[in-house]
Amino acid sequence: MTETVLLVGGGGREHAVARALADDTELYACASNRNPGIARLAADTAEVTETDADAVVDYAERVGADLAVIGPEAALAAGVADALDAAGVYAFGPHAEQARVETDKQFQREFMRRESIPGCPAFETFDDADDAADYVAETDHDVAVKPAGLTGGKGVRVTGDQVTTSEAVDYVRSADYDEWVIEERLVGEEFTVQAFVADGEVRATPAVQDHKRAYEGDEGPNTGGMGSYSAAERALPFTTDADYERAVEILEAVVDAMPAYEGVLYGQFMLTAEGPKVVEFNARFGDPEATNTLPVMETPLIDVLTAARDGESLPELSFEPAATVCKYAVPEGYPTDPDGGTRVEVDESSAGEALLFYASVDERDDGIYTTTSRALAVVGTGAEIAEAERVASDALAAAGEGLRYRSDVGTAELVQQRIDHVAELRGE
Ligand code: AMP
Ligand code: GLY
Repeated sequence: MTETVLLVGGGGREHAVARALADDTELYACASNRNPGIARLAADTAEVTETDADAVVDYAERVGADLAVIGPEAALAAGVADALDAAGVYAFGPHAEQARVETDKQFQREFMRRESIPGCPAFETFDDADDAADYVAETDHDVAVKPAGLTGGKGVRVTGDQVTTSEAVDYVRSADYDEWVIEERLVGEEFTVQAFVADGEVRATPAVQDHKRAYEGDEGPNTGGMGSYSAAERALPFTTDADYERAVEILEAVVDAMPAYEGVLYGQFMLTAEGPKVVEFNARFGDPEATNTLPVMETPLIDVLTAARDGESLPELSFEPAATVCKYAVPEGYPTDPDGGTRVEVDESSAGEALLFYASVDERDDGIYTTTSRALAVVGTGAEIAEAERVASDALAAAGEGLRYRSDVGTAELVQQRIDHVAELRGE
């Protein structure tokens, strides 16, 4: 039987999910933008605000969806999974209560402490910005200052890295948030592990390294993610298999402590001198990380989703032994002052062997327009990361004027820097 699936969300991550589902399902999609890549793969799409649970449910019922996949965290926070489940449409995505592992950073850290989840940095929580700022001013070590709520990956400031202590203090006082987490600055290399979770089972996917900073060489403000790479095996060149296994154990510990969790659980880890520590959890696929893992997943995604819905054991996952490199093209000025609303020419034939995923663009009658977020991703695959990088780089010719990218993501030089950094931390 062909499943009728509703995909919620219209970014690059959701285009990758759509590609993974399109051949095996009757696919419908709804989002606030019209993503041309998703529109081409779906039987129908609708313009629906992702956080409008009633409108998502209406559309799911109208198209007769059997199950739904929810991409964006804002939809999870708004209870879209709860509303779909209540309407009898199985939603692969946690309910708002469980999604708090992402949507409420105070909850996330307090949960880790209460449940003794390994890898938790030292932290304090504050419900008043002045108290938080005073604490930052008085502390004698570097910290990460984090608004408790969702900020699209752009809310965190780290002292001794991006900002000085006095800049962090000013930021906390002037930003428009009351609730903060102030935590120990973790030093090391970041990596992501995403897992499918249902009925207490965890099926992990290969590790990925994302690049959050806007400019080459990890300079500039944090973004939603400028690009990412994965290796032909589950671990990354700068991690050991034991580091990867430790990260998976941490995800398993979360699920043991939260048995109702269903959906993707994403762990962002810092590989420190003491091993992997938790930067954060997300309650959904990563963007860009989904564009690395889904194209090389041999197990059909629909088999994972239907097993979760039907209460069956999740399939063991298999992956092509291929490295991947994703590079995001973003509007000029992104993320601080993005030049949204401009028309871009996308020459899909220039993508060559790479996959091209449209992200936060909007297709209108007269062309494709940028929004204020990332515009499109190209993903190369190859036997080695360097080969995948070349495929992705060559494909960037597809992104026309007005878009910018980081050319260093996935290059041999950058990967070597990561390896050297970890070796130095470990005193090797
Ligand atoms: P988040 O919004 O929690 O993903 O944080 C965004 C980015 O801030 C992370 O990807 C890290 O680069 C950085 N970050 C967050 N927490 C810490 C920490 N405790 N120490 C160092 N960097 C951090
Ligand atoms: N790549 C970061 C995120 O999806 O939040």
